[in-house]
Amino acid sequence: MPRALITGITGQDGSYLTELLLEQGYQVHGVVRRTSSLDRSRLHDLYHDPNVYGKSLFLHYAELDDATTFRRVLGTASPDEIYHLAGQSHVGLSFEIPESTCKMTGMATLRLLEMIQDQEKVPRFFHAASSEIFGKPAELPQNEKTPFKPVNPYGASKAFATNMVSIYRNTFGVFGVNGIMFNHESPRRGENFVTRKICRAAAAIKLGKQNELLLGDTSAKRDWGHARDYVRGMWLSLQHTTAEDYVFATGHLHSVQDVVDTAFKTVNLNPGDYVRQDQRFMRPTEPQRLVGDPTKAKRLLNWEPSTSFHDMIEEMTQIEMKRLDGEYVKD
Ligand code: GDD
Repeated sequence: MPRALITGITGQDGSYLTELLLEQGYQVHGVVRRTSSLDRSRLHDLYHDPNVYGKSLFLHYAELDDATTFRRVLGTASPDEIYHLAGQSHVGLSFEIPESTCKMTGMATLRLLEMIQDQEKVPRFFHAASSEIFGKPAELPQNEKTPFKPVNPYGASKAFATNMVSIYRNTFGVFGVNGIMFNHESPRRGENFVTRKICRAAAAIKLGKQNELLLGDTSAKRDWGHARDYVRGMWLSLQHTTAEDYVFATGHLHSVQDVVDTAFKTVNLNPGDYVRQDQRFMRPTEPQRLVGDPTKAKRLLNWEPSTSFHDMIEEMTQIEMKRLDGEYVKD
């Protein structure tokens, strides 16, 4: 039975990846911060399933900046594969807490690389890198060779971590993979990311539970795919014979306004009646034209996104309607 260790297991990607790895017959170990609550978390069902928790799924308390406890978890879990997904992942927030973003996103990755090198059996290592490393890119679309030009503290810390994974791969032979993840969303997305915020608001307004939706820059564009597809890419990348970097993206750009239009159309409302711009949600700088070229992932891993932008936003909005109506939804 292969053994995997996931940092950030309680997040959107961590929960989908856990389900995928359990289906593939893995024993899954997750690192959980002491402050996280598992009740009502995305792992709630698995955590409360006696056939899963304690049998094929194990959770360990540790902080990424506490090397002693983390080393202990590594010893207990003895993983064949590590999926490093944890970190401060909100770009806007990284302007407010730049130091801790660099510590949690950049330095924590380096610390993990150092630790796994000391292991008797060195596990394969997946790092969730980000399209934010490209910032204001010189070329369009971006691929694995596009130079890094981050424009915010989050992107800079991810660029540092991405470089470190390459350095440990090229210098010390670690099987380290950077998955350069473009935006990926789902009904499990955190509420402060724009797609979930919009889908939830459209549903809440439809149900009379909210009056308006305040947004920042609605002309901002992103390459948005479905998180379920992207975690499959993570897993495939560690099964390949060689350690490589991969862009995971759809190759299609949409604006925040497109998200608004699709979500409000799903509930038959006119967005113009409800959406307002609010300075508080504007960022000091915006990356530009972040759109990925996933050709390499397709060629080497046979990876392709399977859910369209339109279907994803519609699904997210419909699920919000059910949730706000008090229905339990297994998404
Ligand atoms: N969050 C948020 N809230 N974003 C808004 C809002 C708002 O009210 N209004 C407009 N936006 C714009 C942001 O300025 C940005 O241009 C875009 O919507 C997307 O914002 P987010 O959903 O917060 O995602 P992100 O692109 O900044 O970062 C996400 O994707 C990266 C690339 O995959 C995060 O998941 C990162 O962790 C990830 O690396």
